[in-house]
Parts: sequence; structure tokens; C-alpha cells
Amino acid sequence: MTLAYMKLAVPKEALPSEKRVAVSPDNISAFQKLGYEVWIESGAGDLANFPDELYIQSGAKISKEKSELWAKGDLLLKINPPSKEEVGLIKEGATLISFAYPARNEDLLQALGQRQINWMAMDCVPRISRAQSMDALSSMANVAGYRAVVEASHEFGRFFTGQITAAGKVPPAKILVIGAGVAGLAAIGAARNMGAIVRAFDTRPAVQEEVKSLGGDFLMLDFEEDGAGSGGYAKVMSKEFIEAEMKLFAEQAEEVDVIITTAMIPGKKSPVLITEEMVKSMKQGSVIVDLAAEGGGNCELTEKGERIVAHGVTILGYTDLPSRLATQSSRLYGNNLVKLVKLLGSTDEYKIDQEDEIIRGSLVLDQGKLSWPPPKVEVSVQPVKPKEKSINEPVEEKKSIFSPGLMLGGLCLLLLALGWKADNDFLDQLTVFVLACFVGYMVVWNVTPSLHTPLMSVTNAISGIILIGGMLFVTGAQPWMETKSILAGVAIFLATINVAGGFLVTHRMLKMFRKE
Ligand code: NAI
Repeated sequence: MTLAYMKLAVPKEALPSEKRVAVSPDNISAFQKLGYEVWIESGAGDLANFPDELYIQSGAKISKEKSELWAKGDLLLKINPPSKEEVGLIKEGATLISFAYPARNEDLLQALGQRQINWMAMDCVPRISRAQSMDALSSMANVAGYRAVVEASHEFGRFFTGQITAAGKVPPAKILVIGAGVAGLAAIGAARNMGAIVRAFDTRPAVQEEVKSLGGDFLMLDFEEDGAGSGGYAKVMSKEFIEAEMKLFAEQAEEVDVIITTAMIPGKKSPVLITEEMVKSMKQGSVIVDLAAEGGGNCELTEKGERIVAHGVTILGYTDLPSRLATQSSRLYGNNLVKLVKLLGSTDEYKIDQEDEIIRGSLVLDQGKLSWPPPKVEVSVQPVKPKEKSINEPVEEKKSIFSPGLMLGGLCLLLLALGWKADNDFLDQLTVFVLACFVGYMVVWNVTPSLHTPLMSVTNAISGIILIGGMLFVTGAQPWMETKSILAGVAIFLATINVAGGFLVTHRMLKMFRKE
């Protein structure tokens, strides 16, 4: 199907608690380049700090009338699924892109189907690497994870960071993050940046490295079961595994100040991982932020959408965390939409190309006909492991004419010859030289590469001593004739390189930290 779509409309979100808008003023030019005339409902961006003037400056047109805007739109961009009233306003045959949650919106699918709508669901964009830039679930989860930490710190009565002040020592807050998916990792990053000690647990051991790279500690469970499922999502864990992890959480609950839970499997009820007993064992003033509240919550006491205080612990079950950071969320969501609309092509060659797995995956209504669920796209979040060599596999040996035995033999012969010919004085110097090489090698080789630069600065001092020692030896009427003077000359040369190089590298490093 090829259609010349012209008008792109962005309505004001109808949900009273919704502060986001589907498109930010920054996105307008991208849509115009594709050939669209962009219409925004007046006031649509007000709560996300994008007043009408900003859209006008970016080249969009403002429609004061809700019904007029809906009637105009050939392509409608929204965040939440349309309300009943909005379904009545939509132009027949139009394309709507929004979150759809088709599994729980049967009535809506039917109503929109009757109007021959193409409905593309942002929540059905497959989790494949090509679709990452359109993955609105991830961008919203990222915002939610960050906001969860902000909400927790707002409720918590202390600093997150540790401090030593004149008024006393403040210990850092301890935070446990359950589920290290997109939201969990964002929460770990934000909490670490605020100075808290962060621990995390996930059923997929593959995320361990990501947790560590953000500065969190990954809690280990002595239980063999991998939580990685198909389609880039986690799988439901066995009863035994859940029991084992709950034991771990019970121990942690007594110790930590904040728990952020994000453990959920899409389309399934959230597993209860924090019981009332665990809440009771937490310190007074502790906070639980339950991101899985939408699916019933990971904490037994969570009330969806509510803030409650139980046993002295504040439990937040907010389900509108991205909307609580509306400017940021709207920008990210708008960027996701730009990428998806680009995939449909410019207005001259607009096509809902079902051969494209991203388009096929997200299309829930095709000209009114139900096209959900789509055929399965097999992806895995597990990184592909490089093939490990079996210990039984024959290792191809590199043949060299300098075998270690031959080289050792040669070295022994050389030392014997030197011991026979050279004087005592030289042999003393040689012994010190060989020992210095050995100690130097052992000391430098075991230093972590990231510490090589500071190490080089320190070795300047040692090089200085070598320089002075070398200078004392470069003496005599014909220094180039004496072996020890030649050795001393070489030492001076090498030490000079080290000193000059050390200063150069240190200077460069310091320059990186200096504000111009
Ligand atoms: P995700 O699928 O990327 O992450 C969920 C993580 O939980 C996965 O890493 C999974 O392995 C882990 N997990 C599953 N079962 C577990 C168990 N029994 N124990 C430990 N870990 C377990 O999902 P994402 O995008 O990070 O979202 C997380 C949650 O946040 C979802 O429930 C999502 O609906 C919710 N969310 C809530 C918002 C709000 O305003 N409250 C906004 C956005 C997302």
C-alpha cells in the first residue's frame, strides 16, 4: 500500500495525570523533511514545558480545536492508547502510532478496527538491535529508573552520599536494586552518582558485568538457573529459585535503606519478592520504590499508583514515573517516533512495509484487521560467547629457532665467559644491574595498566638516582674504551628518556583535568 500522507497530528494527551507530549519542538523539522505538515493541539506540550510558541517557532501549526486536529491527522502520534471519545474523532483509514498494550485492550482494537485504522504499537517494537533507537519502552524505563532514585531520595531522610563534616560522620545510604534491566541499570547509575552504596540482583547472570561497570555490587546466588528467555525478555523463574532469592532479599532488607524493585516479565504478574515480614525488618524511614506496581508489584504491600507508609517504611507504587520527568521523557519518546516514522518513508513513498520486521512487529491493526500477535522474532539478550578452546584440543605450537632452553644455555655461557675475563669491579656492577632489571620487571609488570601513568611519574625519582649514578661512572681519560663507562652512558641515556617522557606524560594528563 502506498499513500501520500500529508498531515501529521499530535493531540494533547487525554489522561488527567499525563504530563508528557508525544513530540517535542526539536522533532518538528525531521517530520517536515519527510514531507509532513505538522499540527499540534494547543497546549499539548504545556505540562512538559513546551508552550505553543516553541512549536510555532519550529515550524508546526497549532490547532485550537481537539476535534479539528483529530479530523486532520493522516498520521496521528500519541503516547497513551486513545480514549473512547478520541476513537470517535479519528479519521477513517488514518495511521495511529502510540502505546497500545493489545493484550489488555481488546475493546479498543475492535473500535479502531471498525474505522479501518492502521495502529502501530510502540510497546510492540521488537527488541532487536536495529530497533533500539525506536524502543520507547526502554527509553521510558530508563527515565523511570532514574526518577525512582529521585523519588526515593526525596522520601529518605538522609543523604545518599557519605560525608565527614564538622557536625559528624554521615554513612552512605545502602540501596538494593532488584532486576537489572533497563530501569534497574538506570537506577544503579543514578544512585551511584548520588554517592550511595548500590547492590543489585538479577536472574540473568549476563548483566553482572553491566552492574559492575556502573559501580554496583552484583549479589550472587548459589543456584543454577539462568533467567534469560527469548525475545530479549526474562523468563519466569522456578519456585525454588524465587524462594532462594527471597532468602537473599530477607538478609539484605535488614541492612539496606532503600529497595528499588523492577523485576517483571512482560505480560505476566510481577513476582512477589519482598514480603511484609521483610518490610517489618527494614529500618525506620527506609524506602521501597516498586516499579513493577503496574503488574501487581514486587512488594506484597505495594498499592498501585499510591504512596503508603507501612511499618515505618515508605512504599511508592507510582506507575507514572516517566510522566514525572515529562520534558525528558517527551524528548526521548519524540526521538523514538521520528525513527519509526522515518522507517515508513517520506510522504511520497509512504509504505507500511510488512516485510520489515520492526514494522510488522509493531503493527497491531492493519487497515482495521487484527495483525497481532506478530510472528516470533528470535533474539536473545545473551551475548554470544566466543568459542572456547577445549583443553583436549591440540594447541598448534609456534616453532622458533630460539627455544627457551637454547637461550638459557647461551646466557649461561655468556656469564661464564664474563666471569672468566672481567674484573671484580665489573662483576659487582653487573650483579646489581641484573638484580635491578629483575626487581624492576616484577614491580612494573604487575601494575594495573590504568596506573601506568602515575607510576611513570614516580619512576622519575628512580631515574634521577640512575642519572646521578651514571654520571659518576662516566669518567676517565677515554671513557668510550671502558665497558663500565659505556654501560653508565647507556644508563644515562635511558634514564633521561624516562625522566623527559615522565614529565611529558604527567603534564598531558594534568592538562586533561585543567579547565581552560
Ligand atoms: P526489563 O525487562 O529490561 O528488566 C526487568 C529485569 O528484571 C530483567 O533484567 C529481569 O531479568 C529481571 N527479573 C525478572 N524476574 C526477576 C526475579 N524474579 N528476580 C530478579 N530479577 C528479575 O524491564 P525494564 O524495561 O527495566 O522495566 C522494569 C520494570 O519497570 C517493568 O516492570 C516495567 O513495566 C516497569 N516500568 C515502570 C514504570 C513506572 O512508572 N512505574 C515506567 C517504566 C517501566
